[in-house]
Amino acid sequence: MNLRKLFVTTALPYANGPLHIGHIMEYIQADIWVRFQRMQGHTVYFVGADDAHGAPIMIAAEKAGMSPKEFVTQIGPDRARTLQGFEIGFDHWHSTESPENTELSQRIYVRLRENELIAIRPVEQLFDPVKGMFLADRYVKGQCPSCGAPDQYGDACEVCGAVYSATELKNPYSVLSGAKPELRTSEHYFFMLSDPRCTDFLRQWTQGSRLQPEVANKAREWLEGERGLADWDISRDAPYFGIPIPDAPGKFFYVWLEAPVGYLASLKAYCARQGLDFEALLRDPATEQIHFIGKDIIYFHTLFWPAMLKFAGPPFKVPDRVYVHGFITVSGEKMSKSRGTGVDPLRYLEVGLNPEWLRYYIAAKLNSHVEDIDFNTEDFVARVNSDLVGKFVNIASRASNFIQKTFGGMLGETSPTAGGVDPDPIVQAFQGRAGELAHLYETREFGKVMREVMALADSANEWFDARRPWELAKAGGADQQRQLHAVCSVAINLFRLLTIYLAPVLPALAREAEAFLRVKPLRWAHAQQLLPAGHRIAPYQHLMVRVDPKLVAALFEPRTVVTPVSAPAAQAPEPLTIGIDEFSKIDLRIARITAAEAVDGSDKLLKLTLDVGDGRTRQVFSGIKSAYRPADLVGRLTVVVANLAPRKMKFGLSEGMVLAASDEQGGHPGLFLLDPDPGAHPGMRVR
Ligand code: MSP
Ligand code: ZN
Repeated sequence: MNLRKLFVTTALPYANGPLHIGHIMEYIQADIWVRFQRMQGHTVYFVGADDAHGAPIMIAAEKAGMSPKEFVTQIGPDRARTLQGFEIGFDHWHSTESPENTELSQRIYVRLRENELIAIRPVEQLFDPVKGMFLADRYVKGQCPSCGAPDQYGDACEVCGAVYSATELKNPYSVLSGAKPELRTSEHYFFMLSDPRCTDFLRQWTQGSRLQPEVANKAREWLEGERGLADWDISRDAPYFGIPIPDAPGKFFYVWLEAPVGYLASLKAYCARQGLDFEALLRDPATEQIHFIGKDIIYFHTLFWPAMLKFAGPPFKVPDRVYVHGFITVSGEKMSKSRGTGVDPLRYLEVGLNPEWLRYYIAAKLNSHVEDIDFNTEDFVARVNSDLVGKFVNIASRASNFIQKTFGGMLGETSPTAGGVDPDPIVQAFQGRAGELAHLYETREFGKVMREVMALADSANEWFDARRPWELAKAGGADQQRQLHAVCSVAINLFRLLTIYLAPVLPALAREAEAFLRVKPLRWAHAQQLLPAGHRIAPYQHLMVRVDPKLVAALFEPRTVVTPVSAPAAQAPEPLTIGIDEFSKIDLRIARITAAEAVDGSDKLLKLTLDVGDGRTRQVFSGIKSAYRPADLVGRLTVVVANLAPRKMKFGLSEGMVLAASDEQGGHPGLFLLDPDPGAHPGMRVR
C-alpha cells in the first residue's frame, strides 16, 4: 500500500475562553479520521494552536486586568485537560503568539509584496479619542441611519435589518469609552485579491475535488458574484495585540491574516521538537495538507488562505483538502460563540461521564456533508446504552465467561465442524467488510460506519444465541464441549474484529480490549488475521458501563449556562404563556440549608450553603436578610433553581437561587421561603 504523509489541522480556537462543545465536536471528527489513518500505517502530523491575537482578546484582557499575553497564557492548563480528557491525539498544541508565527507570517507577507500583491490605501475610520485607537464596527454604536433605532452596532441594525458602515451611524459613541468617535484617515495595507492572478487561481483551485460540492458552490458564488473578490484589508493600527507588519511602523497584521499561518507555526514547532526538517516536509510533494474547519469560516479557508500560500510560493503549498463540518446544537438550541452551550466539556469530564460515549455519539451523527447535528440527552443515553453496551461490549462479556470458566482462558478452533479448518462463515463475512468500512472512514461517513458496525454486532449476538451456548455448557458431553469452545472462540474473534472497526472512535476502550485479548495495538490490517487456537485471553473486566442518567443530569447543573431565549428588544411583547418544554429547562431542586451567615457590607444578603443532593455543597447569596435570622435557617429544606448560571457577585460566586414569595406591590411587607412537605429530601426534582 502507498503510505501517505498527512499534515492535519483543526481551526484555532480564540484564546479568550474555554473550549466548548463546538470545538470538541470538531476535534473529535478530526481525531477519528487521524486515528483511522494511523491504523492504516500512514504518517500523520496532527497539530492545533490557540488563536491569540486581535481586538476582542485585547479588550477581554483589559477587563480581566491582565496584559493580553498573560491573558492568553492562563487558559493553557484547561486546554490540555480538555483535550486529553476526550482522547484528542494532537501531536502538538501551539499559539499564534509565538516566534514561529511571527517569522512565518512576515515571510509570507514579504513574498506577497515582492509579487506586487500588496497595496497601500487611505481608509477613513472612526477613532476613539479617549482610548486612542481605531474602532472596529463592533465597538461603535449609535442610531440606525435607516430607521433611527438607538444603540445599534456599526455594521447592521438589529431592528430594521439595514446594513451600513460605521461612519453612517447617527450620534455614534465608542462602546469602549463612551466617547464620541472622530473620523480619521490612516493608511491600510491590502492583499490584492482582485488581481486577475488571484481570481484565476482561485477559480481553478476551488473547483477541483478538494472541496465538498456544497463548499465549492459557495466559493463559486463568492468568486462569480457581481462584485467579484474585493481587495482584503490586512492591516490594523496600533495599539493592537498582533504581529507587526515589516517596514510599516505602527501597523499590525489583521488577526485573520496570521491566524491560519498558526497551522504552519505549530507544525514548525513540532518539527523542531522532533528533530524533523519542517521545510523539507512542506516541500515534499507527497505531503498532504488538510484542514478541518466549521462552516462559518469557509471564506477565509477557501479564498484568502489558499491565495496567500499560492503567491508566497515554495516551501509553502496550497491546502490539498478543506473538510467543512456543520454546527452542533444542544437540544436544538444554537450556542453563543462566546459562552458555548449547556454542555460544558470540562464539566462533562468532571461529573464522570465517559468521554468515549460522546465520541461515539458524535461519530454516529456525522457524515461528509456540511450538516448541523444536535446533542439530545435522551437520544445520547439511548444510543450509548443500546449500541455500545447492549451490542458491542455484551458479546465479549458473554463469550469470555465460558472461555474462563470452562476452558481456562484459552481459545479453541473457530471452525464449527469437527476436524474442519475454515473458520465459520460469519468470521469471513466480518473480515470481508474491512475494505468497505475503511472507505467510509476515509470519506468521513462516520455515521454510516457506526450503523454498519452495529448491524454486525447485532448479527454476532444473534449468531451466538442461535447456537445456545448455555445449553451446550449444561449438556457437558465431549462433542458439546468442543462446540461450545468453537462458538465462544468465534464470538471472541468477532468482538476483536468489531474492536478494530471501532478503534478510531473508541481509543481508550480499544486499549482495554487489547489488554483483555492480550494482543498488540490493533491495526486495520489485523482484521485479516484471527486469534489462533491456544491463545490465552485475560479474565473479562467491564469494558464499558451503561450511562447513569444521574450523571447526565449533573452535566446540566451549574458551571452550565442555560441559553436564554433572546428576542430582539423592542419587538413582539413577551408572550403570556410558556410551553412545558420552556418550563422544564428550569431545574428546580429540593435543597437543605446547611449553613447561613450574614454578609459583611450587605444589608440585604445572606450567604447560604446548600446541599442539593449531588455530593457537594454550593454557595448561594439570597436577598432575604430582612426576613430571616441565619440561625433559624440552618437545617431547613427549601427549593432552589439549580441550573441558574453561576454569577460572580461582589461577595463571591453565587451558584443558584433560592425561591421565596413576596408581594410585588408594596415595599417588603414580607418574604416567605418555600418549604416542601415532610418526606422530601435534597436533590429531588420539583416540577
Ligand atoms: N479563531 C478562529 C479560527 C481561526 S483558524 C485559522 C475561530 N475560532 S472559534 O473558536 O470561533 O471557532 C473554532 C472552530 O470551532 C471553528 O471551526 C468553528 O466553526 C468551530 N465551531 C464553533 N462553534 C461551533 C459549533 N456550535 N459547532 C461546531 N463547530 C463550531 O473561528
Ligand atoms: Zn434600523
